[in-house]
Amino acid sequence: MSVEFILKGGEKMSIHIAAKKSDIVETVLMPGDPMRAQYIANNYLQNAVCYNQVRGMFGYTGTYKGKKVSIQGSGMGIPSMSIYAHELINDYGVKKIIRIGSCGSLQKEVNIRDIVLAQASSSDTNINGRIFPSMTFCPIASFNLLLKAYNKAVEMGIKVNVGNVFTTDLFYDEPSDSWKVWSRYGVLAVEMETAGLYTLAARYNIEALSILTVSDHLITNEACTSEEREKTFNKMLELALELV
Ligand code: HPA
Repeated sequence: MSVEFILKGGEKMSIHIAAKKSDIVETVLMPGDPMRAQYIANNYLQNAVCYNQVRGMFGYTGTYKGKKVSIQGSGMGIPSMSIYAHELINDYGVKKIIRIGSCGSLQKEVNIRDIVLAQASSSDTNINGRIFPSMTFCPIASFNLLLKAYNKAVEMGIKVNVGNVFTTDLFYDEPSDSWKVWSRYGVLAVEMETAGLYTLAARYNIEALSILTVSDHLITNEACTSEEREKTFNKMLELALELV
């Protein structure tokens, strides 16, 4: 059985995004929090139009410095990110996805409020175990986007840390110090979406990059205040928007 979802005007939508194909452009920024998508649309885009409100997972398309860009909330974790990224790629023809999110530092040298460019993603998820039974797939960033982001950060005077991140399925893990093994192997930070995004990007031959700000530190137990979160979010966002 196949089910088609139809918008009021008679056009098709995807299962979780109530937009016409032409509502979403080829480059999409994906914050985890849909309220961040709204914040970006209100503060950084010209002529922003909200194309999706289903499940409160806001999506907007607008213009930044003359270039069209879409902003779509991803929600938390690989399953949520994968649903939205899959539909953006397969139903809306999206070619570039830049995740803009937060992470917890796993290294002394990676400080709170720093920016991390996720070159690759290690994970405790079983999503790739299902696709590659008894084999290991390494989800990696688009080299083109990574290089551009790195060069842009240097140009903008923004310090970035580039390396491996750990994508976990459990924010509240058990035992609670299980992250230490990743730290020993030089993984920079922990978050919850990148392995899913990079795997889909590989499967459907699109470009993807995760740009992350460090909101908490697992070694020192520091955490950003909400004001600091907003300031560092803006820096990361400006870097991401410059890539558009
Ligand atoms: N763990 C998992 N995901 C996160 C964290 C964390 O400490 N901080 C921000 N995203």
